[in-house]
This record gives sequence, structure tokens and C-alpha cells, in this order.
Amino acid sequence: MDDTITGLFGLSGRVAFVTGAGSGLGRVIAETLAGAGAHVVVADLDGAAAEVSADGLRQRGLSAEALALDVSETGACDDAVGGILKAHGRLDIAFANAGISGGPGPGVSEGMLAAISRERWASVLDVNLTGVAETLRAVAEPMKAQGRGRIVAVASASGMRSDPMVSYAYAAAKAGVINLVRQAAAELAPHNVMANVLAPGPFLTSIGKGRLHDPTVAACFAETTMAGRVAAPNEIAGAALLLASDASSFMAGSILAVDGGASAW
Ligand SMILES: NC(=O)c1ccc[n+]([C@@H]2O[C@H](COP(=O)([O-])OP(=O)(O)OC[C@H]3O[C@@H](n4cnc5c(N)ncnc54)[C@H](O)[C@@H]3O)[C@@H](O)[C@H]2O)c1
Repeated sequence: MDDTITGLFGLSGRVAFVTGAGSGLGRVIAETLAGAGAHVVVADLDGAAAEVSADGLRQRGLSAEALALDVSETGACDDAVGGILKAHGRLDIAFANAGISGGPGPGVSEGMLAAISRERWASVLDVNLTGVAETLRAVAEPMKAQGRGRIVAVASASGMRSDPMVSYAYAAAKAGVINLVRQAAAELAPHNVMANVLAPGPFLTSIGKGRLHDPTVAACFAETTMAGRVAAPNEIAGAALLLASDASSFMAGSILAVDGGASAW
């Protein structure tokens, strides 16, 4: 292994696939991977937003393309990965990042058990858990065949503890993602395909109709962290690069929390 800093963290010649990269953390992750030298396939349900992310990267001389993709649609990730393999002949890095909010949590009456709607539950699980499983399923075989790969699922600190600020469906889906990845890590690590979890705390993005931009809501989320604040989206970059690069060569089934201490109380 090349253990220079460039060797550990550089992604030159690698092909990366990032879901939900038209906004927020996914956009930062795409920028980070492209900045380290990867070609990035910027996928999002909102195809126009994916185009904006990819355009922004190309304007900076980086390598990216946009893809409209609904991760919750059965087989859509397989088709997307098939297209990537056809165009580029390889896939080295995949971030299962796409996710949606499930509305308020049990800290308020609209988020309590009695208010759970079956329809809302299903839509959150479809994207936040099934969508991650679909992404993992699509990338696993090609990465195994290559004998090398990095898979990162974006879960949440809310998947590791009780959180009055997020919905039951969201917390359950994120906990599910963590064990889904542990299960996949055991299958894939012998093939040098390392699957890990990135678990953010509160970040100022558009999730949940941008509710973190409301100072009152942000203050409640800030209190859940040891740092006493919410994070800027670019604070995810370092951890994302670690899990995407050769620097994480002996990490499998890990949960890397980037949460200002929220999961460590
Ligand atoms: N922002 C936070 O505080 C926070 C905290 C913990 C975890 N997360 C997780 O981080 C990930 C990114 O969230 P974000 O905060 O950047 O939110 P965001 O809303 O800014 O970005 C999410 C992106 O995912 C896309 N998306 C939604 N459904 C999709 C689907 N079915 N298929 C493909 N793309 C889809 C959206 O169009 C959007 O561009 C999510 O998994 C989220 O649960 C966020």
C-alpha cells in the first residue's frame, strides 16, 4: 500500500457513485470525492439538482456526471450501476446517502406513537432503509469481482440512541441501516470491499423542508450534541474521504459518528 498522504487519501482514477448528491451532505461528499481525484456520478431523485451539483464540479475542472435516480424504485440502482460499469468499466466507491425526514419526533404530540401514519412510515422506510439495501445490492457484485471497493451508508446518530427530535420511522430506519451494513460488511470484507456507516448528527441542510434553518429548531438539535451547535454541511468532508479512501483499508462494519458527540452522552 502507498502510505504517503496522497496514496492514503487520493482517489485519482477511481469511479464513485453518490446517491442524494443534489443537495446537502451528498453534494459535499460528491465535491470531496471529486476534489480528491475521483470521477463522481452524482445521483438524485431531483435530476435538475443533480445536474447543478455535477455542473458545479465540472466548472471547477473536476470530473462528474449527473443521474436522475429514485433509490426506492426496485431495480433502479441496478440499472444505474449497470450504466456506470458500461461507461467507465469500474465502480470503486458508493455512498448510499439519499434520505428523507419522517417529520417531527416524540418530543411533540404530532410525533408520538399515536400519530404514526402507515403511509408516512412506509415512505420513510422505502427511501431510508430499502433504498440503502437496493444500493448495496447493486454495487456488491461488481465490487467483489474487482476485489476492491468502499461502500458507505449514511445513517444518523438518531439510529444509535433515542432522539425526541426525529420520527419513529426515521430512527428505526437509521438503526436498520447500521445493522444492514454490519451484515454486508461481513460478506464483503473478505473480498476487500469495505462497508461502513457514516452517522451524522444535526447538519444545516435542506432535509425536512429545511427545518434546521429555523433557529428554535436548530437550538433544540444543538442541545442534543456535546458541541452545543449544529454543523455546516462541509464538516462531513473529512470523515467521508476517510471511508472512501485507502486510509480506511482495515475498517469494516464501523460506525463513524460525525455528530458533535450526540451519540456519546
Ligand atoms: N442533515 C442532518 O441533520 C442529517 C443528520 C443525520 C443524518 N442525515 C442523513 O444524511 C443524508 C443526506 O441528508 P441531507 O441532510 O443532506 O438532506 P437533503 O434533503 O439536503 O439531501 C437529501 C437528498 O436526497 C435526495 N433524495 C430524496 N429521496 C431520494 C430518493 N428516493 N432517491 C434518490 N435521491 C433522493 C433529495 O432529492 C436530496 O437532494 C440522509 O440520509 C439523511 O438522513 C442528515
